[in-house]
Amino acid sequence: MMHAFEYHTTWIVMLAVAVSSQKQPGLSQSSQPNSGLRANCLGNVMRLSLDKSLAVGNLLEVDAINGTDVIPLTPRLAAQCGYSMESDPWGNTKIYSSLFGCYAGSKEAGTFSLGLNLRMSGDLKLDEATYVVTKTCNYRSLATRHILCERNYIEVSTQLFKPQIAKNILGHDDDFTDDAGQDSVKYYVHYYYYYYYVYLFLHLCAVVLTFLPMPQASASPNDIWKLMFFTPEPKVMLLNEAKKAGYGVKSTEHRLVLRSPFNSAETYIENVAGVPMEVFSVSTYYVPIYGLNIVDSDAACPTGGLIFTDKTITWHVPRRITPVIKGAVKILKMYMGIDGQRLDKYQMAARKYTLSSTEFHIVIELPIGTPDGYYKSLAPDDQYHITFTVEPMLELVWREESTQTDTKYKVLFPITTPLMSWPTQFTGNAVPEERLFEILLGTFLPDVELINITFNTGVFSVAECNVKGFDVKEHRFPNGSKSFYLKVPFFEDAVLVHNPVPLLTTYILPMTFGLLILPEETPFSHVAKAEVSLQDVVPPAITGTCDPGYFYVTVGYGSQGHNFRTMIGERELTSKLGETYGLMSNSTHFSFVVPYSSADSIFEMVMSTSVRARIDLELVASNNWKLNDFSLSCSFPLTTTECYSNGTMTALAMKVESVPNMILSHLTLRDDSCKPNSSNNRFAYFSFGVNSCGTTRTMLGNIMVYENDISLDLKSYTSKYPDVAYYKQTVSCYYLVNVTETMAFRTRPRVKDPSADIGMGYLIVQMRLAQDESYKLFYQVEDYPVAKYLRQPLYIEVELMQSMDIKIELVLENCWATQHKDRSSLPRWNLIVDSCANLDDPYSTVFHPVEFDSRVNIPAHVKRFSVNMFTFVTDEVVLKENIFVHCNAVLCDSNNPSYGVCSSQCVNPAKTGAKKSWTADLKGSRNINYQVQGEQLSSGPILLSEPE
Ligand SMILES: *[C@@H]1O[C@H](CO)[C@@H](O)[C@H](O)[C@H]1NC(C)=O
Ligand SMILES: *[C@@H]1O[C@H](CO)[C@@H](O)[C@H](O)[C@H]1NC(C)=O
Ligand SMILES: *[C@@H]1O[C@H](CO)[C@@H](O)[C@H](O)[C@H]1NC(C)=O
Ligand SMILES: *[C@@H]1O[C@H](CO)[C@@H](O)[C@H](O)[C@H]1NC(C)=O
Ligand SMILES: *[C@@H]1O[C@H](CO)[C@@H](O)[C@H](O)[C@H]1NC(C)=O
Repeated sequence: MMHAFEYHTTWIVMLAVAVSSQKQPGLSQSSQPNSGLRANCLGNVMRLSLDKSLAVGNLLEVDAINGTDVIPLTPRLAAQCGYSMESDPWGNTKIYSSLFGCYAGSKEAGTFSLGLNLRMSGDLKLDEATYVVTKTCNYRSLATRHILCERNYIEVSTQLFKPQIAKNILGHDDDFTDDAGQDSVKYYVHYYYYYYYVYLFLHLCAVVLTFLPMPQASASPNDIWKLMFFTPEPKVMLLNEAKKAGYGVKSTEHRLVLRSPFNSAETYIENVAGVPMEVFSVSTYYVPIYGLNIVDSDAACPTGGLIFTDKTITWHVPRRITPVIKGAVKILKMYMGIDGQRLDKYQMAARKYTLSSTEFHIVIELPIGTPDGYYKSLAPDDQYHITFTVEPMLELVWREESTQTDTKYKVLFPITTPLMSWPTQFTGNAVPEERLFEILLGTFLPDVELINITFNTGVFSVAECNVKGFDVKEHRFPNGSKSFYLKVPFFEDAVLVHNPVPLLTTYILPMTFGLLILPEETPFSHVAKAEVSLQDVVPPAITGTCDPGYFYVTVGYGSQGHNFRTMIGERELTSKLGETYGLMSNSTHFSFVVPYSSADSIFEMVMSTSVRARIDLELVASNNWKLNDFSLSCSFPLTTTECYSNGTMTALAMKVESVPNMILSHLTLRDDSCKPNSSNNRFAYFSFGVNSCGTTRTMLGNIMVYENDISLDLKSYTSKYPDVAYYKQTVSCYYLVNVTETMAFRTRPRVKDPSADIGMGYLIVQMRLAQDESYKLFYQVEDYPVAKYLRQPLYIEVELMQSMDIKIELVLENCWATQHKDRSSLPRWNLIVDSCANLDDPYSTVFHPVEFDSRVNIPAHVKRFSVNMFTFVTDEVVLKENIFVHCNAVLCDSNNPSYGVCSSQCVNPAKTGAKKSWTADLKGSRNINYQVQGEQLSSGPILLSEPE
């Protein structure tokens, strides 16, 4: 059982709604039915309703009017004299006055006049409105006893009576037709016979002894001698003492009215059928006129009996209120009402109210939310709650069977539910397309206002939020409740943005809503957080290109701006480094240029004519996440091996990625005394002759292959660096006899698979015409055509130029003369055939031995022969034209002679058999698929001149 109603005992009521005042002093309510002030006679109670629209300030003071006296009502005086007041939070006020109250006048039987004076003002009382209300209620259906349970007092009015009359009156049951006001004219004639209950007081307990008929009797308070309160122990007070203690006592000719404020000392609580009841029980002793007269007055009012569910209030009142019922009773009538106003069964059905009785209880059920009550927001401990308040009324009429006396019992019972939770929902939905949060907070009762919102950036009033474009809206639902809406774009500072993982963005909007409950202006807050994670990050993008010398890199910032660091390999691209690399930027991109040989590039692969280099880029967020990476690998033309005709080979070695621990100054050729000519931490440069540093020679047809290896001098390393053991760069020179076909190998230097680094070279062979037998002076290019007389010798020399390789022997395979420049033209005359002089030649070709001299270092590289100048004859006609001499030369390996022309006996008759051609030495060689050719030599034109 909940005990959750309040007694409103304050008589200075704070009215919340301030409406401009229109002073209406001296208003008489009855002539102003729509003025917002309405008086109703509701049985033994007059109700004055004051609409909040009448309030001029927030203070209401009420005076009772007794004739010409104006008596300010205090809460204590109100409870003593039969007034109660109820205000809802908005200032709608109801004042209930008992017709049996202190200041109710009764000019004639069954007519009660009441006057109230209302004063309304603001706090400072500068502006005051006064209303005077007078009302006369006819209430003739009096019963023997009236018990009224008001919010602040218990009243019992006992007839000094004749029971039979009371019975007749009940037959009219016109309680609710007499709300006619002073203007209705009705005449009721009643005859009252007065009897007193006469009790004999025997020491401790009162026992009914007899009824003494006392016609003509009348009584006034002055006739009251003393009052005995039962607490339940008897406690005696004189009349003045009782009044001083706050009890109301009014004795007229016909009735004795006693009134006790709730919770006063001389009442007590008794549990009746499970319902706590406050019991007010008094025996009134009159000054004996006709003997000892004692009147017993008993009243009991419920202070509990409520059961609340989510939807329903159930109010239990004991069916048999034992403290006020002595014998068997019969319930004659049972009514339910709201705010003191009785409802008929149709009205009850419309509102889904029920009034029923069980064996022990009268039960009233009201749905929570009925329009007769009101919801109110509350926020204890900053938690939003609501209550529902409604004031039902229960009226009972019962007849005590032994005495045939009737009791009219009326309870006005304001009920406020305990705090009920109210579903307040917060939704913070992200709208990714619009990049904003849609916030919804609700629902609340209409008495809640949104005042401000606290973001992590500060507190903003609703107006300020709207200036920021948050578009705060209030939406009202048909049932009166409301919700608040707003939109907060992601870009607002109030939205916290972070990336829990790359590419995922979390948007968090923490907010505290500052709300206010009106009219009390109770602040409360609602803390909420909208959060969403979206895969909406566009990472920075890198693109790049190369040209023969540089890497070109462009970085697009992506969706989050330039909030990252750029790493090139191990180094950060600082603004200083950016200067070196020509860093340029605009609002969306930056770009820079890196030379392929810069310290930030990595050599992947070294080839004879190019190097494959790479730059590695990494974009790193401030929290060290890698946002993107990019590698740009290009081949850049670079001749790493050069093969000079004089037999010098050069090789460039580079620090390659696969051998990170390589120190280039520790590189050597096969002969580890051959160190780099120069080196730094990325490059080593070797230059060496084909006869030195352990260079090997292989002849493949007409190709001379020289090879050496560059490797690390392992003595310089500890076993800590096993990778260096596998480093080996093979440097090869392929000397072709000026065959222009070239070939390139490129191999990636890998651990255990060192590269063959092949360079191409030319062995240069030239044919010249000497001026004489000494072979010291030669015709130069500009001397051609050289003129010679018929049979004058032509001294021809063929030489392998520049080469320092002593193991090569130049051999003239075929030589011939033509009349035209084209070496295959006809007519043709052979001079040397298969390295031997043409024996058919009448002008006989003669070989001349070659010796060391100042010009000839290696005689094997030079062949000399002479023929006598001749001319071609066609059809017996001497053709006086140029002649051209052509030769095919081959190079032979004198250490490793092969068959063919190299082994011809005419080359060097003394050494026949020791020479072999290397044109056939292809077995076991690599797959070199080009044609081996001998050098084709041709002289310039030689002109036959006429002898003088
Ligand atoms: C009301 O006024 C009448 C006469 O003016 C007076 O006799 C009576 O005592 C007053 N009542 C109260 C309760 O003061
Ligand atoms: C925000 O509103 C709440 C609730 O009404 C109030 O208590 C608080 O003082 C307000 N804050 C500011 C800074 O105005
Ligand atoms: C910024 O530079 C990039 C590439 O360098 C270019 O594509 C883009 O158009 C430039 N944007 C502006 C706004 O200049
Ligand atoms: C061979 O020729 C190259 C290039 O002309 C030159 O640098 C080098 O010194 C020469 N070597 C010898 C031994 O003459
Ligand atoms: C080698 O041959 C090419 C083309 O056949 C020619 O241009 C070049 O001059 C020749 N070199 C020598 C040294 O004769």
